[in-house]
Amino acid sequence: MRERIDQLIAEIDSVKAVSLEEVEQLRLKYLSKKGLVSLLFEDFKSVPSEKKRETGQLLNDLKNKAQQKLDELKSGFGAKAEPGKSMLDLTRPVDQKVQGTRHPLSIVRNKIIGIFGRIGFTVADGPEIEDDWHNFSALNFTVDHPARDMQDTFFISENPDVLLRTHTSSAQIRTMETRKPPIRMIFPGRVFRNEAISARAHCIFHQVEGLYIDKQVSFADLKQTLMFFAKEMFGEHTKIRLRPSFFPFTEPSGEMDVSCNICGGAGCNICKHTGWVEILGCGMVDPNVLENCGIDSKVYTGYAFGMGIERITMLKYQIKDLRLFYENDVRFLRQFTGTF
Ligand code: DAH
Repeated sequence: MRERIDQLIAEIDSVKAVSLEEVEQLRLKYLSKKGLVSLLFEDFKSVPSEKKRETGQLLNDLKNKAQQKLDELKSGFGAKAEPGKSMLDLTRPVDQKVQGTRHPLSIVRNKIIGIFGRIGFTVADGPEIEDDWHNFSALNFTVDHPARDMQDTFFISENPDVLLRTHTSSAQIRTMETRKPPIRMIFPGRVFRNEAISARAHCIFHQVEGLYIDKQVSFADLKQTLMFFAKEMFGEHTKIRLRPSFFPFTEPSGEMDVSCNICGGAGCNICKHTGWVEILGCGMVDPNVLENCGIDSKVYTGYAFGMGIERITMLKYQIKDLRLFYENDVRFLRQFTGTF
């Protein structure tokens, strides 16, 4: 009996009809007085009494399923369900569909792409598995250069030339090697460093690199572009300041701070009571780097900058711990519903 019921459930589940007449045929086959389901009710009489309860339940389920299926097929042809027999309840509350959210890092990456897109920057990316030349040597990190210490990464022991890129700056090299100026591009992507995981550091994070190469590009252009970016990202009231710094591939180099958008510059924990938060490194591309990529440094100049998407996102949404980005805790992610 049990087997027969299961068999009929599966069978009814998969039936199809191309017309109302066919639905009627199905009704006759299964639910009419001499239908297959009704016949099972006849057999029910001979079921041993200790099994009656369970079998009765199954039979009723089968009958309800068959009726529901026929109603569905019927309504597909615009016909009404049989009054009093329909299992279809149109007044039932709708099923809640869970609304997915974009990850905060994707939201901010898209915002960055949008801001630079408005001033003519197109988007590209390079490989995450890099070689020494593109990640280090072409960017003036010669072998044994002390600046390599700050960007320890993951190597393949059999071939130390293969590594996971430590920054998106490698993508500017690949672009300059294959394109002729003018180049005005940004490179968002995932990067890797051999760092212990904490509230402020992770072995995987994200950067956006920017590059502009043309005739007569100056530091003033860089400053203007970065100011535009900061105001678009954090609001019109935002101030920027540039501090001298060092990167092997830019000369001169700088680091840019924005006025703290949490305390408005008055001083708080996030800005360590300075009123300023560092968000990126930048500078004029070193002529040697241009030459490494086959670009004539007597004709062309350019600027570059690189920022961490995590850092910008933490500042924008006042997130205090970087690990939240990677834990996939829906209580955290849900807060970004409706933000794009
Ligand atoms: N690649 C640097 C880093 O990861 C950031 C950076 C600094 C990128 C200056 C640049 C730049 O393009 O000009 O620390």
